[in-house]
Amino acid sequence: MILEAKVAIVTGGARGIGRGIALALAKEGATVAIADVRDATPVVDEIERRGGRATSDRCDIRQSGEVDAFVAQTAQAFGTVDILVNNAMAARVGVPISELTDSDIDLALTTGPTATLYFMRACYPHLVGKGRVINLRSGSEMSGIPGYTAYLAGKAAVAGITRNAAREWGRDGITVNAICPFALSESAQATFDASPGMLDAIYGQLSLPRTGDPEADIGRTVVFLAGPDASYITGCTIAVDGGGTFVS
Ligand SMILES: NC(=O)c1ccc[n+]([C@@H]2O[C@H](COP(=O)([O-])OP(=O)(O)OC[C@H]3O[C@@H](n4cnc5c(N)ncnc54)[C@H](O)[C@@H]3O)[C@@H](O)[C@H]2O)c1
Repeated sequence: MILEAKVAIVTGGARGIGRGIALALAKEGATVAIADVRDATPVVDEIERRGGRATSDRCDIRQSGEVDAFVAQTAQAFGTVDILVNNAMAARVGVPISELTDSDIDLALTTGPTATLYFMRACYPHLVGKGRVINLRSGSEMSGIPGYTAYLAGKAAVAGITRNAAREWGRDGITVNAICPFALSESAQATFDASPGMLDAIYGQLSLPRTGDPEADIGRTVVFLAGPDASYITGCTIAVDGGGTFVS
């Protein structure tokens, strides 16, 4: 168990990729604290049934006060925070730029880069000397998809945060990396249901034409980046998307 005695915060761990990441981290011994607006109790129960340790609380990641309280409460309960996974994000997609509402733009930017910075800022004192930050990017930010501009603006900002934080925090003993995932989460499934043919088109572009498994593929990559074998890796992005994205 390579993450024994580590404490990890996972945002958006109630479902989808975040759930897979939470399960994978707990399986390696980390105590996992899930921050989500959705009820994450079923994921906590699943981790405990498997013999792991987890907790969850309602936290709207767009509200800095709620983020600060969640981080303080986690550190108080478990002694520190070693690993931060900024996974949660929400956006309305399939909307042309000319039809984006103020709230569409606000949602993508506040749940993406703003929330990522809120959590990084709040976790910093705990991360100094040993911390690992893993941010969720998107490969489509590099290739582009019409109708995804607000979402991908948020992801591009998360990419910039990842690179710059790696520079700024290296001397503090904190690594900051990112993952571009592909998995059939609930929200991804809803997108594909609304756009017939889109999933087949994506399969056509993948080198490995299958969807990723949130726990076995994406969760295990987070475990690697959070674990001892990745101590000399920072500022990097790993695409865990079947060869859909080549990050160079
Ligand atoms: N699914 C994919 O193939 C894919 C591809 C590229 C990038 N990503 C990225 O991976 C991450 C996870 O994706 P997913 O498909 O599992 O998403 P999802 O929508 O299925 O799950 C997101 C989780 O975040 C939570 N959340 C949303 N807004 C929140 C808020 N304001 N406060 C707290 N929690 C909030 C939701 O309740 C949910 O549990 C996201 O950052 C997404 O952009 C996913």
